[in-house]
Amino acid sequence: MASRCTCSLVVMLVVALGCATISVAPTSAFPSCERELPCGPSKFTFYLHNTVYNPAVDNKNSFNSIYSLPPNISFPNPFAFGVRNTFEDPITEGPSNSSNSLGKAQGFYVLDSFTEFTLFHLFTANITEGEHKGIINIFGQVREVDPVRYLTVVGGTGAFLGARGLASCTLVDIDHTPPAKWTLSFDLDLYY
Ligand SMILES: *[C@@H]1O[C@H](CO)[C@@H](O)[C@H](O)[C@H]1NC(C)=O
Ligand SMILES: *[C@@H]1O[C@H](CO)[C@@H](O)[C@H](O)[C@H]1NC(C)=O
Ligand SMILES: *[C@@H]1O[C@H](CO)[C@@H](O)[C@H](O)[C@H]1NC(C)=O
Repeated sequence: MASRCTCSLVVMLVVALGCATISVAPTSAFPSCERELPCGPSKFTFYLHNTVYNPAVDNKNSFNSIYSLPPNISFPNPFAFGVRNTFEDPITEGPSNSSNSLGKAQGFYVLDSFTEFTLFHLFTANITEGEHKGIINIFGQVREVDPVRYLTVVGGTGAFLGARGLASCTLVDIDHTPPAKWTLSFDLDLYY
């Protein structure tokens, strides 16, 4: 009984003292803030290979992405504003599509400009091979005319738990012959 009273007296004193000196309150008063994320890789590069399904050539045995229906509008739409492409693309360690597999990228982009090609991307890179395994969540705009497009890493799981950072995207190769194919590189700078 006595020790419990002493205890609550100490707590009250600490609380009072804490109020008076709030600006120097030790961080140990908030133990949940002290948890640290494990450090995953600070650099990570992958290459994403996409082949669009094109009904004109009906490449139903070799595609990774499909376009949604065009918007039902009565005016010209030269930049396909409002069209979505959903993809499940192989990703590799090197730029060639026959390079070592790392896993796959799944997500979509939406064409979101009336005046140029901009592709708003939201996808997960599921890295299932190699030294670092886990998910990388990527978000941002690909403006086609920019030589380097800066997207962001907004999170991750596994080896990439809590990752944030920059995803610099460049076009490695594009073949416009239907069905259109391209390879993008993603160079990531990651912070945990
Ligand atoms: C497009 O919109 C018009 C006008 O509302 C409608 O009559 C037509 O059925 C729509 N077409 C499609 C493919 O939804
Ligand atoms: C891989 O790339 C080669 C050469 O660019 C191409 O001929 C082949 O169709 C591609 N394979 C796949 C699965 O896209
Ligand atoms: C990543 O891919 C592996 C292998 O296909 C699968 O087991 C896992 O569930 C995938 N993770 C997500 C979040 O899709």
